[in-house]
Amino acid sequence: MRIGICGLGTVGSGVFNLIARNAEEIRRKTGFAIEITQVGCRKDNPNVDLSQANVTRDIFEVVKNPDIDLVLELIGGTDVALKLVTEAISNGKHVVTANKALIAMHGDEIFAQAAVAGVRVRFEAAIAGGIPIVKSIREGLAANRISWLAGIINGTSNFILTEMEQPGTNLKFEDVLREAQELGYAEADPTFDVEGIDAAHKLTILSSIAFGIPLQFDAVYTEGISGVTSEDIQYADELGYKIKHLGITRKSENGVELRVHPTLIRKEEMLAQVNGVMNAVMVGSDSAGGTMYYGAGAGAGPTASAVVADVIDIVCAQGSTGIPNLGFTPKNIQALPVVAIEEITCACYLKLNVLDQPGVMAQLSTVLSQHDISIEALIQKDTHGGNAVIVILTNDVVEKSINAAIVELKALSAVKGEVTRIRITALHD
Ligand code: HSE
Repeated sequence: MRIGICGLGTVGSGVFNLIARNAEEIRRKTGFAIEITQVGCRKDNPNVDLSQANVTRDIFEVVKNPDIDLVLELIGGTDVALKLVTEAISNGKHVVTANKALIAMHGDEIFAQAAVAGVRVRFEAAIAGGIPIVKSIREGLAANRISWLAGIINGTSNFILTEMEQPGTNLKFEDVLREAQELGYAEADPTFDVEGIDAAHKLTILSSIAFGIPLQFDAVYTEGISGVTSEDIQYADELGYKIKHLGITRKSENGVELRVHPTLIRKEEMLAQVNGVMNAVMVGSDSAGGTMYYGAGAGAGPTASAVVADVIDIVCAQGSTGIPNLGFTPKNIQALPVVAIEEITCACYLKLNVLDQPGVMAQLSTVLSQHDISIEALIQKDTHGGNAVIVILTNDVVEKSINAAIVELKALSAVKGEVTRIRITALHD
């Protein structure tokens, strides 16, 4: 698949670097090589090594290039982007875009044109960056009737509301917005973020995918977060609620609700736990029930992940078998050795019933240190009748070391009965 990239900003550079880094992994999955044939950008991006690339300053050269099969529209905006996509489709090229405004406002005409031309248009990256929400709704939940959907789909607004929640801070909206801009989350012109327009673009697309209705951005009720004060957040908190900016769409007897606005939600709700710039979408469906999708809604890496997934989809659709059963083509399934449980490394929770007498703690820590196990935390509980319960959290330790230490701990005369061990899992690399 020969690809032309239009736009080399945050998303374009992320896509270029992701394809360069994972070209071999993509070939294992699709059975095809993906090649960046041309890059159209107004100026180079210092985050990208373009030394081997065919670069043009005229993005329209990319959509005219007969050696290109698939155009990535990553310039943003609606006017030039629409012309670019229209011309790419007329020239028989597939299109992948990250442009939510373009799809929300012109998607229907673009899809109609693509159907006539026999090419594909994909836009996973337009909504919630790295979360595969389009795929999840369109494919994973395809068997369901969807009844509602609610999402935190603007990271900047969520970041601002989260900052305003911090106890003791009496930050003003403008101060937090400035911080969001300095951190690079907010758009240069923050109106789209804080007035809910960006979220309305995304909700428009989500509602069409959920309910099979035309894209109707103009019909979305749109309210941003600029009217929310720290006082509102505090009062809501006292009543058991958080204030979140949600995009909500719901099917009812009367039609479909399409709305974007700040709203109180119970603190126990999963969406209430989504903080900072993170995005999440909850979907209510008749067979799968409620499901929630969470992740980074913006940034070079997450957005590039979605763009390249769309490229892979289009590549797989070219082959006769579609997406392989295991995601990799059969000839690229490669065995890897399975790590024995004794060789894994993780921190542990240990609970011991001990005699409550001098020197016991020293004996426990001596055993642990002899196995090179460091203690992260320790508490003594339930001290009565000459006995006590000791709970220890260790730092990371190889399984076979903690196994050996547990055998020795159990052998101590001060330790009574079993030693409980529960592994602690850190959910990151
Ligand atoms: N400005 C958007 C946000 C970026 O804050 O979520 C992703 O569309």
